[in-house]
Amino acid sequence: MFITKTEERILEGEEGEARRLAMKLLVAIGDAYEAKRMIKVRSAQISGVSYKTIGEPGLEFLEEFSSRGALATVRAMLNPAGMDLARWRELGVPEEFAQKQLEIMRCFRNMKIQPTCTCIPYFTEGSSLRGQHVAWAESSAVVFANSVLGAYTNREGGPTALASAILGKSPLYGMHLDEQRTPTHLVKVRCKLENDLDYGLLGYWIGGDVGSHIPRINSLHGAPSYDQLKALSASMAVSGSVPMFSMNKRADKREEHEAIDVDREELLKTHRALSSEKEFEHICLGCPHLSLKELRLIAHLVSGRKAMKKLWCFTSRHLRDAAEQHGYVGTIEQAGGKVVCDTCMVVSPIREMGIDGIVTNSCKAAHYLRSLNRVESCLISLKECIKYALA
Ligand code: F3S
Repeated sequence: MFITKTEERILEGEEGEARRLAMKLLVAIGDAYEAKRMIKVRSAQISGVSYKTIGEPGLEFLEEFSSRGALATVRAMLNPAGMDLARWRELGVPEEFAQKQLEIMRCFRNMKIQPTCTCIPYFTEGSSLRGQHVAWAESSAVVFANSVLGAYTNREGGPTALASAILGKSPLYGMHLDEQRTPTHLVKVRCKLENDLDYGLLGYWIGGDVGSHIPRINSLHGAPSYDQLKALSASMAVSGSVPMFSMNKRADKREEHEAIDVDREELLKTHRALSSEKEFEHICLGCPHLSLKELRLIAHLVSGRKAMKKLWCFTSRHLRDAAEQHGYVGTIEQAGGKVVCDTCMVVSPIREMGIDGIVTNSCKAAHYLRSLNRVESCLISLKECIKYALA
């Protein structure tokens, strides 16, 4: 990979050890992927924030970077942490885990990285990302950014996103190049999608079929909402490693694709494979994190009622504050629910908190809870989850 004189000086350590290590990492990645050069990125979003997912080695890595004076030079944000940073005691997070998580947060704060702790950074970005290059690590946000927002990002790992935050750069390869963003598979949807869960199931099925390729999704009835696209992006990234999808009706001239059909039977099969038939006491919504619109819907559905089971709604602190101003948080919590932020059901120590099964609308959560946590999930739509919580 070509590097400029300035980048060479950074690589030689003239701007300090932390910047040297960050540059060394990005150059190694650039060389491995035959990148042409570095490009500037507008923001970085860093994964590997929860102590549950990074453990002691991850904490040591962050301490090392932070003690060497690493500082973010572009807008730098975080994926969810392992707990609600304000209400962790109330939610039953073990003390020892919490102290480790707080150390991780201190490292990120020292590096001037904003403790946004959300997997939907696009709801806090404010301005348009169309045509912008970013270095994001959260897989669902990567698919959403490339496909819905028209941004350009590879699926970064935690360390490379951190290096990009420090240098404001990323190697130019993969999803940063227009020629790599052409769909290779044409997905014909042969059934009507009824709700958020159907979009999740469709994404999960597509990811399982196309792997790391780019699908163009055709024949959808009507235009999906942002929240439905959020569910689609998240599940597609987890069953495969799809970097983006297209919904353009017309194929690009360069496009050569394999056609695949999906019908209701395929979605039902996907549902049977992911969902348990058992009933559980905890209902967890917000994977990916809930949008303001979804919080409004939940508030509307529970208003004046009492939840008979435990209803946890995960979102970002930023959106929780906005929802509080609108009165949605008050309504949900008066009904017995909790609006939890900074974390989610997958990256929090859910088993240690005494939970071995949940009801959710998220295919991504169901996938990870079963494979990583031995926690079962019963999958139903958001509206059905609320009905179940109130019954
Ligand atoms: Fe977000 Fe946690 Fe799901 S990070 S996408 S809510 S697994």
